[in-house]
Amino acid sequence: MIAFRRALSREDAALIAQMDVVCFPIDAPAEFAGANWFIGWDGDRPAAYCAWKVVEHDESVGFHYRGGVMPDWRGRGLQREMLRLREAEMREQGLRKAVTYTDADGAASMRNLIAEGYRPYVPTPTTTLSGLGRLGRAGFVHWGKKL
Ligand SMILES: CC(C)(COP(=O)(O)OP(=O)(O)OC[C@H]1O[C@@H](n2cnc3c(N)ncnc32)[C@H](O)[C@@H]1OP(=O)(O)O)[C@@H](O)C(=O)NCCC(=O)NCCS
Repeated sequence: MIAFRRALSREDAALIAQMDVVCFPIDAPAEFAGANWFIGWDGDRPAAYCAWKVVEHDESVGFHYRGGVMPDWRGRGLQREMLRLREAEMREQGLRKAVTYTDADGAASMRNLIAEGYRPYVPTPTTTLSGLGRLGRAGFVHWGKKL
């Protein structure tokens, strides 16, 4: 049983940075400041982590900013659980839409997003999550869901 708890402390941030290097070895490190972070604990061992934040598109939307499951804990539905956990907070804050993006070959994430009701969308200058410079470039898939 994995217990998700909010990550707030300097120690939590350091743990997340360690997990992030394992889950996203070639990406720029995630920014701890400005997002709502959770760690999923298996007893005293961190098994997964995720974050979301509000971004301004055509309206305010909830952005699944980062998420990873440590290799030993994959295959147990934790990413889907983390999607639902963050969606619940987004709804509580009155947001009506959740968005995220994946690498074009992120099959496991895509399967989880589809299973949770997400569908792809074509990003525009006001709805891109991967930056204006990347608009129209192959490599990312944008996903959205009505909450
Ligand atoms: C993506 C990630 C969070 C998924 O972890 P998880 O919640 O344990 O997901 P699972 O391993 O159960 O995989 C989910 C689904 O994808 C499938 N899958 C897993 N690896 C796959 C692969 N290489 N190719 C195709 N399908 C794959 C699983 O069979 C499962 O499908 P099903 O639900 O239809 O049976 C985890 O792999 C991870 O942290 N990866 C590195 C970081 C990352 O990519 N994060 C997401 C960024 S958007």
